[in-house]
Amino acid sequence: MIIKKAEYVISGTKFEHFPQFNYPEFVFIGRSNVGKSSLLNAITNRKNLAYTSSKPGKTITLNFYNVNDEILFVDVPGYGYAERVKYDRLAYGKMIENYLNFSKNLISCFLILDSRHNPSEDDILMYNFLKHLEKEIVIIATKIDKISKNELQKNLSCIKKTLNLRTNDFIFCVSSEKRVGIELVHKYIESKISKIE
Ligand code: GTP
Ligand code: MG
Repeated sequence: MIIKKAEYVISGTKFEHFPQFNYPEFVFIGRSNVGKSSLLNAITNRKNLAYTSSKPGKTITLNFYNVNDEILFVDVPGYGYAERVKYDRLAYGKMIENYLNFSKNLISCFLILDSRHNPSEDDILMYNFLKHLEKEIVIIATKIDKISKNELQKNLSCIKKTLNLRTNDFIFCVSSEKRVGIELVHKYIESKISKIE
């Protein structure tokens, strides 16, 4: 996948704010600080397209990015960060639900997990919610540069078991920092958009 263009479009929390492009959409969802924005940057080959931070709670609205005038990436605030100022679980749930329920161009949901940790209760809830949408779910385990290959294998089995993954769910392992596994995500996205065109 060649990234010719990657630009920020708009941020919003309500359906009226969301851009009305007719591009296939891919959404980045997951706990706070797991590396959603960093992954978006790695995939688009840009350093600072989506804002990242070592402090959880950096992304606070849905942020839309136009890639190559043919794809829309949607970066979502992380869940489960209780200390965020004004973090309102209910409002957060509504915002995400609204987006996921009404986005007619949504192709796949990237559920981003930190490869070092077992999925949380919130991850399980989100996975089950995504299952009901009948969109493709792609699990992406991030930060694999921080663990050994053995640990990664152990943790992947744990993730599969805890979420009770279906056989048709995709699972990719990446390090945005070291750019490992990004090619496979590119290939996946390409395969999806080539089916539409
Ligand atoms: P919120 O917007 O708060 O929900 O966080 P996020 O999921 O977007 O995480 P973000 O991309 O901001 O990354 C959080 C921290 O993890 C930053 O300090 C990143 O540099 C670091 N990080 C992200 N991906 C990787 C990775 O693959 N490897 C390593 N070592 N660090 C990473
Ligand atoms: Mg973020």
